[in-house]
Amino acid sequence: MSARGLMNDFFSRLFGRDGHRYAHLGGENAPAEFKAALWTRKHSILLIILVAFAGLAAIYVSSSNESPATYDKGKSCDTVEHGYQCNAGISHFWDQLTTFGEQQLVNSGIKYYERYKELSRDFVPFVRSSGQERVVESALNWTQGFTAAKLADKHASQDPEAYPRLDVTIPEADYGVNNTLNHDLCTEFENGTYSTIADDAQFAWAEIFATPIQKRLNAHLLGAQLSIDETITMMALCPFNVVASPTGKTSPFCALFTEEQWYQYGYYESLGKWYGYSHGNPLGPTQGVGFANELIARMVDKPVDDHTSTNRTLDKSSETFPLGRKLYADFSHDNDLTAIFSALGLYNGTSNLPTSNIVEAQNANGYSAAWTVPFAARAYFEKMICNEHDDELVRVIINDRVLPLEQCGGDGFGRCTLTSFVDSLGFVNGGGRWDQCFV
Ligand SMILES: *[C@@H]1O[C@H](CO)[C@@H](O)[C@H](O)[C@H]1NC(C)=O
Ligand SMILES: *[C@@H]1O[C@H](CO)[C@@H](O)[C@H](O)[C@H]1NC(C)=O
Ligand SMILES: *[C@@H]1O[C@H](CO)[C@@H](O)[C@H](O)[C@H]1NC(C)=O
Ligand SMILES: *[C@@H]1O[C@H](CO)[C@@H](O)[C@H](O)[C@H]1NC(C)=O
Ligand SMILES: *[C@@H]1O[C@H](CO)[C@@H](O)[C@H](O)[C@H]1NC(C)=O
Repeated sequence: MSARGLMNDFFSRLFGRDGHRYAHLGGENAPAEFKAALWTRKHSILLIILVAFAGLAAIYVSSSNESPATYDKGKSCDTVEHGYQCNAGISHFWDQLTTFGEQQLVNSGIKYYERYKELSRDFVPFVRSSGQERVVESALNWTQGFTAAKLADKHASQDPEAYPRLDVTIPEADYGVNNTLNHDLCTEFENGTYSTIADDAQFAWAEIFATPIQKRLNAHLLGAQLSIDETITMMALCPFNVVASPTGKTSPFCALFTEEQWYQYGYYESLGKWYGYSHGNPLGPTQGVGFANELIARMVDKPVDDHTSTNRTLDKSSETFPLGRKLYADFSHDNDLTAIFSALGLYNGTSNLPTSNIVEAQNANGYSAAWTVPFAARAYFEKMICNEHDDELVRVIINDRVLPLEQCGGDGFGRCTLTSFVDSLGFVNGGGRWDQCFV
């Protein structure tokens, strides 16, 4: 995962762009009568997926003061298998959940409990996580938040079994592991020609927006001779340094750049996700198909039918993939969330993002990295029965924004019937372009 990924949410906070916490559709701003109708009958499946929270800033900052023994300039210090290797003394901090991130996940568990209180009181979420340590820790902190909220609720079930635990951890490996919460199987996507599309798109945009910044920095940091990539890494120090602080204190690095430059940087991150894992990459959405098929299985209460990245052994067993539960929670990565959203067609209305000028989320059908996968990102997939509707309905909320679900005829509250939602998922049903993974 890109070291610079997903910090745009913090820019939103820092620069006051966050006027869109809730879309007017449904959500917290739904008319009172709608909310009442929504929860009159306890009959919902809810599903949440979250992104982990890495503590890379600590490394960038502290490693600059060290003279690492094994640093080979121009070669990455971080690999999937071995993690950070430049300086063994601090390498255990690499890719870890920060204190601030832990707290965000605890809060996320509390928020989920409160939001779906009528269900959370009586039911326990089934929890799965991808195997990387920071993702597992995210899941654990989330269950702690959920449990704390439940213990504090006098009306909640007191049953000792009423609290969630991490039920399934699906291992991650570089090759050969079927894991719907972490991509890795599809050779053509991982290592083929499609694997460089995102870098190329980001580089094209970086040359445009980061060149003047690079000149300014180099004019003031005599001898530094920062490259374009290093210039962008200088910018990344702002958000990562913010989240390395236990309280999320604004970093002095942030003041080195203008508000306009943060929009440019945010767009750089959007390009990375779009061309890496979404429709900008011919095999991006396909990486989300396995999870999307699991989502369908849970929604329609039928066994998983998938021929992509699902682990058939896990999904066949009611121990590791139970159906008929009211609440589920899954923990994954930003990149995988992006692929899943794309497989589900949630951003099908977004035109391919240009690499020469910014298109903000408002003009991109709601798509940007900041809107879809900020740190501690979450998506809620809700199934419900409402008064005066015979059909079960589906609604999708990503980071508190209700999606319009135009692809299945979403109503004014963003709701589709379950049948039309599932019918719209032909791409998922057909396995995406999985057949192109091994050519
Ligand atoms: C997160 O969980 C770990 C143990 O899994 C715990 O040590 C830590 O205190 C938790 N963080 C918060 C903020 O509660
Ligand atoms: C599928 O899951 C089972 C049970 O955890 C595991 O033993 C097996 O190695 C997994 N298979 C693949 C191909 O990932
Ligand atoms: C991609 O290449 C790396 C490095 O050669 C290798 O370890 C990995 O197994 C490959 N992944 C796939 C899915 O082929
Ligand atoms: C893992 O996925 C591959 C590719 O779809 C499939 O051939 C294999 O049967 C799967 N293995 C398991 C245990 O699900
Ligand atoms: C999204 O677009 C793709 C590619 O055009 C298409 O195959 C898929 O069915 C669409 N998905 C939805 C949910 O509309």
